[in-house]
Amino acid sequence: MKTTTIVAALTALLATADAQYVKPPKTTTTKTTTTTVAPAPTSFPKPYQGNPWVNAEQFINPKFPADVRKAANKLQAAGFPNLAEKAMESAKYSTFIWLDNIASIEEKLIPSLAKAEKDRKKIFGGKKLLVPIIIYNLPERDCSAMASAGELFLNQDGHRKYREEYIDVIKRHIAKYPNLRFALIIEPDSLPNIATNMAVPKCAGAQDAYISGIAYAIRAFQANNIAIYLDIGHGNWLNWGEESRLNGIAPYVNATRLAAPATYRGFASGVSNYRPLWDPTGAGRDETTFATEMGKVAEEAGLPSKWIIDTSRNGVYPPHEGYLEHGGWCNVRGAGMGPRPGLFSNSSLPNIDALVWAKTPGESDGTADRSAERFDENCVGPQAMLNAPEAGAWFQEQFVMLVRNANPPLTDSPEYSWDY
Ligand SMILES: *[C@@H]1O[C@H](CO)[C@@H](O)[C@H](O)[C@H]1NC(C)=O
Ligand SMILES: *[C@@H]1O[C@H](CO)[C@@H](O)[C@H](O)[C@H]1NC(C)=O
Repeated sequence: MKTTTIVAALTALLATADAQYVKPPKTTTTKTTTTTVAPAPTSFPKPYQGNPWVNAEQFINPKFPADVRKAANKLQAAGFPNLAEKAMESAKYSTFIWLDNIASIEEKLIPSLAKAEKDRKKIFGGKKLLVPIIIYNLPERDCSAMASAGELFLNQDGHRKYREEYIDVIKRHIAKYPNLRFALIIEPDSLPNIATNMAVPKCAGAQDAYISGIAYAIRAFQANNIAIYLDIGHGNWLNWGEESRLNGIAPYVNATRLAAPATYRGFASGVSNYRPLWDPTGAGRDETTFATEMGKVAEEAGLPSKWIIDTSRNGVYPPHEGYLEHGGWCNVRGAGMGPRPGLFSNSSLPNIDALVWAKTPGESDGTADRSAERFDENCVGPQAMLNAPEAGAWFQEQFVMLVRNANPPLTDSPEYSWDY
């Protein structure tokens, strides 16, 4: 498709989105569309301006080093001191804090913020401390799969709970820390599912809830110390040509229009996936190509288009023979930790802000137990490791594999900046 065609198609899309959101349709489904977003305030504070990784140290989420320490002790006890040492090396890096249910506000957010405020005072030279957080609790979450299904449902007041008991509460806690800087990834997999999985009834039913929930989150987190990135799947999901990119951007256009004049910085790709930065097969479904090509489509649609990429498990590509045929997202065999998180600088890729470790290495993608409520076939597929625990639970075998296969290897490597 030519650029002019894209622009024409997007203009049409914007016009319909405008029409819808200026004057909401009077159908029975409007209950979920229109009542969920507070009346638009006329102005918002400006979000963080610029790349938040510049002139910042990254907060170390204390849960990861604690888990790694236990894992390393086991390796030491089992007679693998070298692996134990490499494991400890990985604990130096910043991983995102997953707020994946309402309880995690008490359990993870509050203690992390208190720790970050202490850490901040040890940083000199005018640098800020950057705290990375994932917002992940939409009603009907993980609509096309089972493994990460959430706690909120539309028929159980999920809309209101998401806004009032989750987003608003997080916002209040973050607002107490004006001297910290925040990077937020909003709702992994949600809008890509709206773009591609409308044949799945749970996704079709969640469309309005996802778009209005995300617009609500964008509005809630407008502050001059917060940079927001909307999750945008990965290159092997939305980068199968121009039509795929155009379909892919549509729900983002809708969410952006609904949130306006509130805004965000751009997108997060590859979250919890295994896609490489550069695809050696040249198929173009890698994350840097995705950032470039989808970034252009976003810009043409008038959206902000800075990018961050999850490299926590993308060090080996393909991770094993047969992966290219099967794809696969659940506890993929043969994977290794990828490039260390930090500021990204490559002048050919000016829209990429940073590489991040969004998925915590060692936390499972989903259970391999067929009798579990959240069992997903993919977690026993040909690409998956055996005997995985529930999503988010520590998976020692996987962690050891990721350490062993890390690329670049885990040695005493320098700090946070990923300079080329
Ligand atoms: C975007 O909004 C338009 C107008 O309401 C709607 O027709 C379309 O289905 C929405 N598309 C997506 C992908 O959300
Ligand atoms: C910078 O990005 C370009 C474009 O993707 C790539 O070809 C090049 O290898 C990158 N440079 C380095 C040093 O990795």
